[in-house]
Amino acid sequence: MTVSSPERPYAIACDRNREPILAVLRECLPAQGRVLEIGSGTGQHAAYFSAAFPDLEWLPSDLPQNLAGISLWRQDAGKNCLAPVGLDLLADQLQLPQAEAVVCINTLHIVAWQGTRQLFAAAGKMLSPGQGVYLYGPYRYADRPLEPSNEQFDQWLKARDPASGIRNFEDLSRIAQEQGFALEADVAMPANNRSLIFRRAA
Ligand SMILES: C[S@@+](CC[C@H](N)C(=O)[O-])C[C@H]1O[C@@H](n2cnc3c(N)ncnc32)[C@H](O)[C@@H]1O
Repeated sequence: MTVSSPERPYAIACDRNREPILAVLRECLPAQGRVLEIGSGTGQHAAYFSAAFPDLEWLPSDLPQNLAGISLWRQDAGKNCLAPVGLDLLADQLQLPQAEAVVCINTLHIVAWQGTRQLFAAAGKMLSPGQGVYLYGPYRYADRPLEPSNEQFDQWLKARDPASGIRNFEDLSRIAQEQGFALEADVAMPANNRSLIFRRAA
């Protein structure tokens, strides 16, 4: 008898970026507690990072239509990879589930700018002083031109959805600051990406 199982969603980018991201996460995540991942996508990162951090609980989230795929990756993950929850950054009166840290990878340039505002507003309410938000993706900086590969990517994003697009680092830092976060680190990553770590001030 053949038992068919549905195909898991897969993104090759996750295989490429998970090790460099993990190296930065090791420096900024708490030793214990719960990490809320926003925009978990396929669920590959949730499965991988939860295995890499056995003392943390990893809570994946995304739009409702992606939760089934994340659950498929979760089948092979440890118990510390929690059942994914629906989370729309553009939801009215966004509230984040309780966690000790927030991780958001390659998502803010996909969601309209209001989603970034809401992420920091909600994280500012949910996190305690000393706790942080980790962002990964491409960013535009005022003091230098965007890399050609990212300029092309930005144009492709905007042609697909004019509300999307690579975010300005300075705008992002300003709204983070308005919600009580300070930039702790801005780390260069492969393929012209960055890791940004914002920590809630006391
Ligand atoms: C480019 S994918 C990145 C997924 C994953 N983090 C990764 O690195 O492979 C962007 C993700 O943002 C999610 N997304 C889109 N709109 C969203 C919204 N309004 N709120 C939360 N997530 C959203 C998509 O469903 C998708 O999973």
